[in-house]
Amino acid sequence: MPMQTVQAASTFFAVSLEILEAGKILPCDIWLRHDGTDPILYRAKDLAFEPEHVRRLAESGVESVLISFEDARAWTDYLGQRLRHEARDESKPLSGRIEMLLRTSRATMNDIYRDPKAPVVKEQVSHLADSITKIMQQPDALVTSIRMMEHDYYTYTHSLHVAFYGVSLAHAAGLHDTSYISSIGRGCLMHDIGKVGLSHALLNKRGRLTKEEFDQIKTHPMRGARMLDEAHWGDPIARDIVLCHHEDLNGQGYPHGRHDDLISVACRIASISDAFDAMTTDRSYARAMSANDALTILRTRRVDAYDQSLIKVFITMLLDPSEKR
Ligand SMILES: [Fe+2]
Ligand SMILES: [Fe+2]
Repeated sequence: MPMQTVQAASTFFAVSLEILEAGKILPCDIWLRHDGTDPILYRAKDLAFEPEHVRRLAESGVESVLISFEDARAWTDYLGQRLRHEARDESKPLSGRIEMLLRTSRATMNDIYRDPKAPVVKEQVSHLADSITKIMQQPDALVTSIRMMEHDYYTYTHSLHVAFYGVSLAHAAGLHDTSYISSIGRGCLMHDIGKVGLSHALLNKRGRLTKEEFDQIKTHPMRGARMLDEAHWGDPIARDIVLCHHEDLNGQGYPHGRHDDLISVACRIASISDAFDAMTTDRSYARAMSANDALTILRTRRVDAYDQSLIKVFITMLLDPSEKR
């Protein structure tokens, strides 16, 4: 292993090992850090990253490698190409493409939620949203995806699932503008980013939250919107979803208690997708419920909170995917 080291350890971002494709040429230098020391160059750009490297790193317990901020562009181009290829390679069966896309997306989302201020986040999210938008146009893509979704709740996997549901619902509702749908995807992927920074104990508390605890949780939409503003996202649709995904049509949501027409279609789509994925996933305070039970709650118990015309489309989309489009 070359022993080149650098001083400015903070100018690196972490990338999950599983995103690097074994047997392919590296798009940029990759570095490792041992026990808080300065990063050491592990393998240089333009060399092949062999299965043997993956095996050795995995055996040493390495889960992620480091990439220099200077290589951010090369890295996001590589990731974008890879995601596009995975979503669009029609020589592979749909289930195989979705499996690859889910695996790469999950690892990328984990990186994003661990370090949402990394310089590559916005582009990574855009590449993910574009690929999800593309693949979710395929008939049966959503039901195939649902079969492969993990049922343990992590904020980053939840956010990924919400994007799959949200983009599918946008397609099924007859929206045709793919850049608008991609923005919905970006908003869904980032909708809970404001939870980063809230304590793990609070987010995973079993049992009822006190009023003070719930008040803290309720800060996450504003925190998330602020994070996007600080990173100069410039995507008003995605920002709107981050800020308003807990608003209810009856005005009883948060943070602003907005009513009906003040809640955009993009937010209505995101809030249905968010609620459905949360209810059908195991959380610290509740077991996953069946899709039917979750849909019944959206349709009856919280009838005036959600856009019922979109709920109808959502139900049709889930129950009878062949009639989606
Ligand atoms: Fe949320
Ligand atoms: Fe959520």
